Amino acid sequence: MANIVVFGSQWGDEGKGKIVDMLAEKASAIVRFQGGNNAGHTLVVNGEQCILHLIPSGVLHAGKKCLIGNGVVLDPAVFCEELDALAKRGIDVSSERLMVSKKTHVIMPYHCAMDVARESAKSDGKKIGTTGRGIGPCYEDKMHRCGIRAGDFANKELLREKIEKALEEKNVLLKHLYGEDPIDAQAVYDKIEPYVDRLVPYLGDVSSAIQEANEKGGMVLFEGAQGTHLDIDHGTYPFVTSSNTVTANAASGSGCSPRALDRIVAIVKAYTTRVGGGPFASELFDENGDYMQRQGGEFGATTGRKRRCGWLDMVVLRESVRLNGPTELAITKLDVLSGLKELKICVAYKYNGKEILYPPQEQNGMAYVEPVYETLPGWDDDITGAQSWDDLPDNARDYLKRIEELSGVPVGLVSVGPDRAQTF
Ligand code: GDP
Ligand code: IMO
Ligand code: MG
Repeated sequence: MANIVVFGSQWGDEGKGKIVDMLAEKASAIVRFQGGNNAGHTLVVNGEQCILHLIPSGVLHAGKKCLIGNGVVLDPAVFCEELDALAKRGIDVSSERLMVSKKTHVIMPYHCAMDVARESAKSDGKKIGTTGRGIGPCYEDKMHRCGIRAGDFANKELLREKIEKALEEKNVLLKHLYGEDPIDAQAVYDKIEPYVDRLVPYLGDVSSAIQEANEKGGMVLFEGAQGTHLDIDHGTYPFVTSSNTVTANAASGSGCSPRALDRIVAIVKAYTTRVGGGPFASELFDENGDYMQRQGGEFGATTGRKRRCGWLDMVVLRESVRLNGPTELAITKLDVLSGLKELKICVAYKYNGKEILYPPQEQNGMAYVEPVYETLPGWDDDITGAQSWDDLPDNARDYLKRIEELSGVPVGLVSVGPDRAQTF
């Protein structure tokens, strides 16, 4: 059965969790391949909400394997908290079905300290607005080749040694550059130790698990986190996260061949949101933006921050199509637009006197563009009960058709409410 990759096409929070949960019904295994607990993926089943930060969004379906790939950065305390919260709901979180790659890098308390210290030292306008979860510093250690990997938890001596070594450098920075208290290696070890024995039974070979699932004829579902415009290479650098969020990383971040990625689903919010700093061409500062924020309940699922809102940006989406190769679009939160008289779609940018169809590649270039809009009529009908294309008002259908035309990709899924069932 064809494997599926789900990715965010904008700046995250497009509704990936909801769609992954829905598609997981047909999967044998669901894999996270990048990011960490900076992600907040919301699932609503029969009116009950569940927010996942680390564990794949297929976990609510009994019997499905949930895999955390090598490309993820894992905070062991958050992993254990999430296991406990799910177990409380009666969900099986045994090592029979959950696996963490031995190659997954581990977020340590000093990564969070560095993340927060770095952000605090930045002046307004320069702050990335990170989630403060230690994501960037953990990926830095990985690239610097001094990171701690989940597999190291099976060797306490090595773990202790690596903590001591890492702190030699971190403490110089914390103390002398950021004016923070140095961190004691023994204290870090003591804080981590309770999670060591809990994590070890989950360690495994995720790459082989994917291969096995496919060899048995099962489908593997790859769950992206963040969004394309937060990608470390292709996003609005430096206002990005520290991993590759594009679909190519589904292969390297989990340990499979790019040829294993068959169907690619772009999650597209029917408008645009962004949380944290950085340029956002179609951002609204008027009643339309407030309407989207309110109707869409646009607050971050991880940090609770208000999400910035704006019109759908096809320049952003066009770039996502080029970078990720989606076979279909899943349009989410279409219901949120009900009640707006007119809808705008940003179809191009004016930049340095020229009209451009893709985001500028100069640092912070997007901050200097002027969006070019096309206007479509809105609709008033409540569409939260729609179960088919035919249930949508004409203007909602035209809005979707225009997205298909402008992106060149067919709409395969439409979501009209947070519940698993509100999808067709
Ligand atoms: P993710 O990070 O991409 O998984 O998205 P988040 O969970 O951070 O944010 C999406 C929010 O929108 C969550 O609160 C979802 O419950 C909600 N949501 C998802 N799809 C829909 C939809 O079609 N309509 C409405 N009204 N809410 C939705
Ligand atoms: P999901 O998977 C939206 C943003 C942060 C910040 C920037 C860098 O739920 O879509 P980081 O902590 O990663 O170093 O922060 O990236 N960010 C997200 N925004 N959704 C996310 O994840 C995000 N993960 C990180 O707000 O601007
Ligand atoms: Mg989210």
